[in-house]
Amino acid sequence: MQASPDTPHPPLEDRFGRRVSYLRLSVTDRCNFRCVYCMPAEGIALQPAASLLTFEEIEEIVGAFAALGVERIRLTGGEPLVRRDLPTLIQRLRALPGVREIVLTTNGHLLRRHAAALRDAGLAGVTVSLDSLRPERFARITRGGDLDRVLDGIQAAQDAGFGPVKLNAVIIRGFNDDEILDLAAWAVERRLLLRLIEFMPIGEDTVWGEVAGGGCVPAAELRAVLASRWTLTPEGMRPGAGPARYLRLEGPDTPQGARVGVISAVTECFCDACNRVRLTPQGGLRACLADDREANLRDLLRSTPPGPARAEALRHAVARALGAKEATHAFTLDGGNVTSKQMVSIGG
Ligand code: 5AD
Ligand code: SF4
Repeated sequence: MQASPDTPHPPLEDRFGRRVSYLRLSVTDRCNFRCVYCMPAEGIALQPAASLLTFEEIEEIVGAFAALGVERIRLTGGEPLVRRDLPTLIQRLRALPGVREIVLTTNGHLLRRHAAALRDAGLAGVTVSLDSLRPERFARITRGGDLDRVLDGIQAAQDAGFGPVKLNAVIIRGFNDDEILDLAAWAVERRLLLRLIEFMPIGEDTVWGEVAGGGCVPAAELRAVLASRWTLTPEGMRPGAGPARYLRLEGPDTPQGARVGVISAVTECFCDACNRVRLTPQGGLRACLADDREANLRDLLRSTPPGPARAEALRHAVARALGAKEATHAFTLDGGNVTSKQMVSIGG
C-alpha cells in the first residue's frame, strides 16, 4: 500500500514509548582538533567527499524526520564549522515545516569568524566543548587546540546574542578532574551554562586505551566536588530537554540563578528519557549512540528516483530503525560495550 504524501503519520515513538523529537545531525567527520577521548592521534580514515550527504540530501532526510515529529536539530561533527556554508544549511533546515529549533555543538576554534553569520541564519543556540582552562592542558587534551582562541570564540558567541551559551566539559580522572570547581566558577561568573560530562567508553582502544587508567569520574563524585563549594539544589531533568540534570548553586560571590549540569551516561543511566536519534555525515541513521547498527538513508536516496514513493520509503526506513532502538546502552565504568566507531564519526 502506498500512502499519499499527505497521509498523517504518528509522531516518532519507539517500542518503549519514547517520543523521538531530537536529531543529532553530524555534518562532517573532519575536525581541526584531535581530542584524546574522541579520536586517535593519527586521526581517522576520512570518508571520500562524495560519500557525504549533500545539503539537498540532508534537507530531504530532515524533512522526513520533521514530518514524523522531530522538532529540534543539533548540528555536530567532527567539527561542524569546518563544513562550508553551514549558515546556508541552517536557513534551509529552518524553513522545513515542523523544525522548531536548530542548535550547534562546536569546539569553538572557528566561532569568532562564524558567530554572527550563524546567528543571522537563525541558529538558536551554541554549545562549546571546553575541558580545561589551562592552556597547556587544553592543548594536550585537544592535541593542539589553542585555549585563548576558543575562549575568544565563546565570547564571540555571547557577543552575537546567543544566550545562554552552553559549555561541555568531559571530566577524565587524572586529566582534568582537579578543575571541576575552577570550570564551574569561571562559567557561572560569565553566565555560561556548564555541563560536566562523564567520560564514556566510546571508540576502539586507540582512544579508550590512552585514558584507560583514568576514565570516568562518576556523577555522584562530580556533585560531591561541587557541594564542597556551593549549596546544591537539584532541578532534575526537564522532559524532552536532554540528558543533563541541572543543579542550582548558591554561595558567596555566586550570581543569582547560577546552575551547572551533570550528564551521566555511565553511572546514572538516562536512557528511559532518551528522545534522540543520530545521523552520520554519510547518512547512517543510528538509533542509539552505543549501537553500531546503522540504517543507510543515503543509499536509499541515491537508489530511488525522487517523488512520493521515495518520501514514503524514507519514512519507512526511519520508522524501522527506530523500531529496533534498544531500551538502554551498556556503558560501564570498566569500559563495557565499547562501540567500534570513534566518537568523531558519530557526533557525540
Ligand atoms: N565521552 C563523553 N563525552 C564525549 N564527547 C566526545 N567524546 C566523548 C566521550 N568519549 C563530547 C564532546 C562534545 C560532545 C559532542 O561530546 O566533548 O562536547
Ligand atoms: Fe573534534 Fe569535538 Fe572530537 Fe574534539 S571532541 S576531536 S573537537 S570532534
